[in-house]
Amino acid sequence: MIQSQRGVDGPRDLDHGTVPPDGRPLADQPKWRQDFPIDWAQDEYVSRRELVKFMVLTSAALAVGQFWIVLKSAFSRHPAPVAGEPIAQVDELPIGGAKTFTYPEGSTPRLLVRTGATAFVAYDQQCTHLLCPVVPAFDAGRLHCPCHNGWFDLETGQPVSGPPRRALPRVRLEVRNGTVYATGVEGSTT
Ligand code: FES
Repeated sequence: MIQSQRGVDGPRDLDHGTVPPDGRPLADQPKWRQDFPIDWAQDEYVSRRELVKFMVLTSAALAVGQFWIVLKSAFSRHPAPVAGEPIAQVDELPIGGAKTFTYPEGSTPRLLVRTGATAFVAYDQQCTHLLCPVVPAFDAGRLHCPCHNGWFDLETGQPVSGPPRRALPRVRLEVRNGTVYATGVEGSTT
């Protein structure tokens, strides 16, 4: 009985826009109800509207999330090219030849040595003893520091004789399409 009186078709107080549960005018209602009139029909309508709004927003968020996942997977099929700086052309040096370069820009001098048809090694040129520049001794398979007769292995940069105790910092290299790229430095440069 009460439920039917709460419907939108029940008596409505025009001053407050409410529908009391018992259907009587608001002036006949207890004081507490006059102070806090509640339009149940309007309240339920707002609740349904809020629910629909929530569902629409949730669906939109899910759709955006799915779209982002699709985009991410599409781009991940094409990995970004490996970073690196070109430091020489393969044909620029004969086997056994060498050149100095800086990497990254502004670094201490590095030494690039061609050790085979497509094989290169590169190290910090400063000797790890007292910072004299090392030079390639290709036939000996070594790098030589003339200051105190220090020697390093050409393939590893490790000290093999003389005062140096630490390996030369090594530059990581990649050869792509006839170009030698520096892609990083291994070991301390201090
Ligand atoms: S500076 Fe190289 S051996 Fe001393």
